[in-house]
Amino acid sequence: MAEFLSTAHCEGLKVELESRDMAKKKKRALITGITGQDGSYLAEYLLTLRYEVWGLVRRTSLDPLMRLQGIAPDPRVHLVYGNLRDSASIGRALAEAQPDEIYNLAAQSDVGISFKCPEETFEINYFGLGRLINEVQHICPKARVYQASTSEMFGTTKPPQNERSPFRPVSPYGESKVKAHEDFVVGYRERHGLFICSGILFNHESPRRGEHFVTRKISISLAKIKLGLQKSFALGNLDAKRDWGFAGDYVRAMHRMLQREKPEDCVIATGVAHSVREFVEETIRAFDMKITWKGTGVKEVGVDAAGNTIVTVDKKFYRPREVNSLRGDPAKAKKRLGWKPNVTFKELVRMMAKADYERIQKSL
Ligand code: NAP
Ligand code: GDD
Repeated sequence: MAEFLSTAHCEGLKVELESRDMAKKKKRALITGITGQDGSYLAEYLLTLRYEVWGLVRRTSLDPLMRLQGIAPDPRVHLVYGNLRDSASIGRALAEAQPDEIYNLAAQSDVGISFKCPEETFEINYFGLGRLINEVQHICPKARVYQASTSEMFGTTKPPQNERSPFRPVSPYGESKVKAHEDFVVGYRERHGLFICSGILFNHESPRRGEHFVTRKISISLAKIKLGLQKSFALGNLDAKRDWGFAGDYVRAMHRMLQREKPEDCVIATGVAHSVREFVEETIRAFDMKITWKGTGVKEVGVDAAGNTIVTVDKKFYRPREVNSLRGDPAKAKKRLGWKPNVTFKELVRMMAKADYERIQKSL
């Protein structure tokens, strides 16, 4: 045990020192998906390491820079127009940014939606990485590439899942990420010597999480119920288990993976899983409320202390095929990257509940 701890400590120290060296040289990073949850935290983190940050931003009908309000005016942040569906725009962004490091975070990242739009999901998640890699080879072949892979790739493989666990995806999203990993990450690393690796990240959340993901849906809905603005809300599968961590912790691991001597894939997780039901219960505690579950299946309801139904189950939120249980084994991340999460499940739930409560109250 002592030997293991000291190895982990040395590895961690080595990575920290390498990061400090890099910071001195003012590296350039290009982030696809900079407007998303992870992109915004990663951009902020890289700025603290004195990077010059470039971000690929696509056209949307609403302001795409909502999550970047804190850093968008920073002169070290450069946003370039582009889309993973368009090779020329990727090429232009790479030529302009001339990045040392590329973080490919852009994706159609909603698993439920991937059943409804499988083609769109493959276009962005699979062919998008292919286009990016192709342009990297021509424009900046020495750049190091991080690919946002996912625990959803493990699908029905029993937990705990680690780097050696088989991929058994059940959703078009999971399939697109497995294929992208196999063809472009493993394939180009082995056949073309590209510095590219996958971070196989388990679910990570934050107050910036998209509002349709279950954790954010729960924290927003219960904040509204607490404020008397809503009576109840519906969920799908309450018994699905996920290994939920804090996004701000996970972006540190992405960066560390690109500072290694050799590119290696790594699972990033907390090692602890909770069910959707437990996420509801922890959020209820954060709001100083009570819940009792009654009934089963689609008839199950969650009732508050006054006897009001506040949670129902609706089949429309069930997935055609479900990943029932994900729990990562982060031993390699600890040993090789010296990485561990700082925020616990309880702290994460409280952080999200407080942020949504205060934001909604302020908007009244
Ligand atoms: P997210 O909030 O949904 O962000 C996705 C980003 O991709 C957004 O910036 C989005 O831009 C951009 N994007 C989508 N389609 C694009 C296109 N065609 N061209 C360029 N950009 C495009 O996702 P996230 O939670 O930050 O996740 C980041 C990455 O990690 C994703 O690849 C996801 O699959 C992966 N991942 C996430 C988790 C997790 O728990 N969060 C776990 C494992 C892996 P708009 O703002 O314009 O929509
Ligand atoms: N979204 C959603 N909405 N999910 C629900 C609901 C609901 O009303 N009710 C129950 N769930 C269950 C889903 O069926 C799933 O089992 C679990 O809650 C988590 O769903 P999401 O929050 O949508 O996340 P995800 O695990 O499917 O996908 C996220 O994590 C992946 C990593 O494992 C996304 O961030 C993916 O991009 C990421 O790769």
